[in-house]
Amino acid sequence: MSKGYFGAFGGAYIPEILHETFAQLTLAYETARADEAFWRHYIELMRNYSGRPTPLTFAENLSLAHGKRRIYIKREDLNQTGAHKANNVMGQGLLVRRMGKTRVIAETGAGQHGVATATMAARLGLACTIYMGAKDVARQRPNVFWMEQLGATVIPVTSGSQTLKDAVNEAMRDWVGSMDNTHYVLGTACGAHPFPEMVSWFQSVIGQEARVQILEQEGRLPDHVYACVGGGSNAMGIFQGFLEDPQVELIGVEAGGLGLAGHNHASRIASGKSTVGIAQGYKTCFLQDEDGQMRDTHSVAAGLDYVGVSPILADLHQQGRVRFEAATDVEVVEALKRMVKSEGIIPALESSHAVAGALRELPQLKEDAVVIINLSGRGDKDIFTIAEALGDAKWKTYIQERAAIYAAEQGERS
Ligand SMILES: Cc1ncc(COP(=O)(O)O)c(C=O)c1O
Repeated sequence: MSKGYFGAFGGAYIPEILHETFAQLTLAYETARADEAFWRHYIELMRNYSGRPTPLTFAENLSLAHGKRRIYIKREDLNQTGAHKANNVMGQGLLVRRMGKTRVIAETGAGQHGVATATMAARLGLACTIYMGAKDVARQRPNVFWMEQLGATVIPVTSGSQTLKDAVNEAMRDWVGSMDNTHYVLGTACGAHPFPEMVSWFQSVIGQEARVQILEQEGRLPDHVYACVGGGSNAMGIFQGFLEDPQVELIGVEAGGLGLAGHNHASRIASGKSTVGIAQGYKTCFLQDEDGQMRDTHSVAAGLDYVGVSPILADLHQQGRVRFEAATDVEVVEALKRMVKSEGIIPALESSHAVAGALRELPQLKEDAVVIINLSGRGDKDIFTIAEALGDAKWKTYIQERAAIYAAEQGERS
């Protein structure tokens, strides 16, 4: 099997002009990976800057409600900027320094990866440009606000559908013209080699910690590990702690959106509706139509609303090592409410997919099952979406009142 392939998936389908840049990145990554001091430096940075190791919290009330089953939550929500994204961007930031580059670019949909990248750039003293579809800029103002405060230039992309895939095109265009001093920070375990492998490596810190912690706290390995899957980076992160333990079942939960019957979801594998294709530099299972055009996807969680999936996870599924399920928007909102009320933890909508998948299956698991749910991020970042998904009337009144104040201020000025 050639480098960068995972079974039938992966590869590097990139324009000729980027070959040298990818070769340089691959070399930097492989050299860093072979250098134990690099990993120690990375772990030290994450310890000091991002609060690692994140705790493995025993979910006492959820457990009590499920007999002798014991449920643990891996708290990636406690990272700097509130999600596992910090692990990946800080790791890539250290590589940028090793390569001697001074600028980073990224594309972002909902804005979380943009905020994480801008944070890393601020911390490591790098110039930063974030590409974002003009529609997403309008929808995700709080994240745009923070990226700009962090010193990043946010460029609204007005071509095409003015969303994430157009932002990807613009970021690629930038990179082709700036690769001498610029690194493109990819946010998930997708794209051309070495990104899937490299991002998974940085995220493996989650699984390494979780394995040690569950052995300490339970004296044995878990029976089941649940993680949500957008591109697949948080899932790859935690799964890597248990890949070599066949007794540990690994479950990836995708966005079931409005249900798997139509196309209003982003379930590539559990829906059985994806086909193998090559796009955005790599080969994987994509949701595409009969002509090979990428379909529009839907999820209440912006971070799971993605048309492809990590080639590593596609392969692990094909090998029968990872089972895939989907949770609908309705199940996800219910799971979020349950986690908030019973554990006092506010999960991101993305992470709530993993919670929903586990909650659905818990009553059927063996009586003394030990379960880990990877909580990839915290939900207060999603307050606008969550309040809307919950239909919170008091929140809507608050927004209306703020809007009225701003409208009056504008009226006075003009
Ligand atoms: C909190 C959170 N969880 C999960 C995801 C999905 O990404 P991945 O599948 O790469 O972990 C995102 C993406 O934005 C996210 O913000």
